Amino acid sequence: MKIIGPDYLVFGVSDLKASAEYLTAFGLTPVDVDEAGGLFEALDGTGVIIRAKDHPDLPPPLPTATMLRQQVLGVVEASDIDAIAEELGKDRKVYRLADGSIETVDDLGFALKFQVTKRRKLEMPAEKINAPGAPAQRKANEIGVWEDMPARPRSLSHHVLFVPDMEKMIDFYTKRLGFVITDVLTGAGPFLRPKANDDHHTHFFIRAPDYMQGLEHLAFHMGGPTELMVAGSRFVRAGYESFWGPGRHKFGSNWFWYFNSPLGTHFEYDADMDKHDDEWVAREAPMGPEASQILHFQYREKWAPGPGPGGK
Ligand SMILES: [Fe+2]
Repeated sequence: MKIIGPDYLVFGVSDLKASAEYLTAFGLTPVDVDEAGGLFEALDGTGVIIRAKDHPDLPPPLPTATMLRQQVLGVVEASDIDAIAEELGKDRKVYRLADGSIETVDDLGFALKFQVTKRRKLEMPAEKINAPGAPAQRKANEIGVWEDMPARPRSLSHHVLFVPDMEKMIDFYTKRLGFVITDVLTGAGPFLRPKANDDHHTHFFIRAPDYMQGLEHLAFHMGGPTELMVAGSRFVRAGYESFWGPGRHKFGSNWFWYFNSPLGTHFEYDADMDKHDDEWVAREAPMGPEASQILHFQYREKWAPGPGPGGK
């Protein structure tokens, strides 16, 4: 059961036009998008699909305010779909689509789809840094940042769900789908990665009351902290509202910057997340600002030092 992680998150939105503008300004590319919505993709083909909330192709909504309608998880090969269909078919309906993908629900009613991943292999350099004592990553005359440098989301990284029954949710994802818990914030919930992904997390669950069940945020990987700061600054200057960040998380070590959105959830740029394998022993810390982040800054308008009064 080689699950890689989210290929797409699917939304039924109340304002298609505002959502489409938002996703484009965030740096995603519209693909086959028309007045009925469509896919907005990152550089590797993962992304966000939007439809009007009453679109007949969408799975039914949860009985909460969330606009999330389906999580599409990518797997390595067709035999993984068969294994998932067999496992989940033991106690729920699993629908096979013409393209071989399957649709079902998890134990809390979140709609899931599994498909052979649509991710394209990326061949791009990581952000390069120079540091005393280490060989220069950027050679002589190679500059590190410029005004119109590319800073686009590379890949759908992770999403965070508000979960009213944590025990059920953890059991389903670990025992039925083989996810691994990498760390736990006590009082909130666990970070998880699927077996075929070495990122610190593709999922994080937060304990919440029934009426909050839904999506808290989703995140896209950037090429490094500079790209994250450049993309976030451009997004602020385009008029979008910073919600939290920029900063750096403790668990996962990823840089973060969160924004409000018209999709009823927060969107995050992230960069430089830890990788793990099966040797890793999960840490645990009480949820709170100290455990959640190691650094936190706030965006300020650009400024430059000038001469004091009376200078000649
Ligand atoms: Fe996040």
